[in-house]
Amino acid sequence: MKIAFIGYGQVGFPLADHLQRLGHEVTLANNDPQSERLKQALIKNAHFKVATPKEAVKSAEVVFLATPFQANEVALQAVAEEIQGKILVDCTNPVGPNFSHGLNNVQSGSEMVQKLVPTTQVVKAFTIYGFENFENNVYPSYNVKPAMMYCGQDAAAKKVVGDLITQLGWEPLDVGGLEQALHLEHMTLLWIRMVRTNGNSPNTVWAMLKR
Ligand SMILES: NC(=O)c1ccc[n+]([C@@H]2O[C@H](COP(=O)([O-])OP(=O)(O)OC[C@H]3O[C@@H](n4cnc5c(N)ncnc54)[C@H](OP(=O)(O)O)[C@@H]3O)[C@@H](O)[C@H]2O)c1
Repeated sequence: MKIAFIGYGQVGFPLADHLQRLGHEVTLANNDPQSERLKQALIKNAHFKVATPKEAVKSAEVVFLATPFQANEVALQAVAEEIQGKILVDCTNPVGPNFSHGLNNVQSGSEMVQKLVPTTQVVKAFTIYGFENFENNVYPSYNVKPAMMYCGQDAAAKKVVGDLITQLGWEPLDVGGLEQALHLEHMTLLWIRMVRTNGNSPNTVWAMLKR
């Protein structure tokens, strides 16, 4: 697939890297050819394409948003026209002081993102763990895959994102509509507090058991 990344830091880079190595055409959205982050990304993977945000999004079938939450509005406004009708994978989380919910537990970040791009199919995914698990999600001692929960309103968009989740080695778990994003964001905060505050290993993921 043609996939564009807006933001390729701790979260975006490993996802972009794995997807490119799986054979997808991955384009990094970039406005500054001198960007140190871009240089570093290309040193690690020379097969990325690079284009302006507008060009990257215009030619993509799926767009990943992996920016600091506060940057979402500016980043999406820059591609407001091009992103219409596309699938947007929202990897962002609103995180407030002391790992509280950045929107006061009332509205999810992803619903806010959806309001910014009303004709785009927003799917929240790749948010419930720290970046370490996007770099490496292999847990060889277990015969179940780590779960990746995701949500969104559009079934077709979720099918596409669910397939990418599977390709990346996760067990995809569709948890429902975008109203579930608030709960995923709290799950993220649970993981962050367990790991970044309470000293649990970042090599910790959730698994789904069914019977
Ligand atoms: N870190 C984690 O473990 C983790 C886990 C799950 C979810 N998340 C969420 O994922 C998102 C990204 O986190 P991160 O840790 O990957 O951040 P990061 O390492 O700081 O990377 C942020 C990326 O966004 C880009 N960016 C910043 N402002 C932008 C703008 N206005 N327009 C376009 N691109 C912009 C940065 O590019 P420049 O460097 O060129 O500015 C960089 O590529 C956040 O919303 C975070 O809450 C983080």
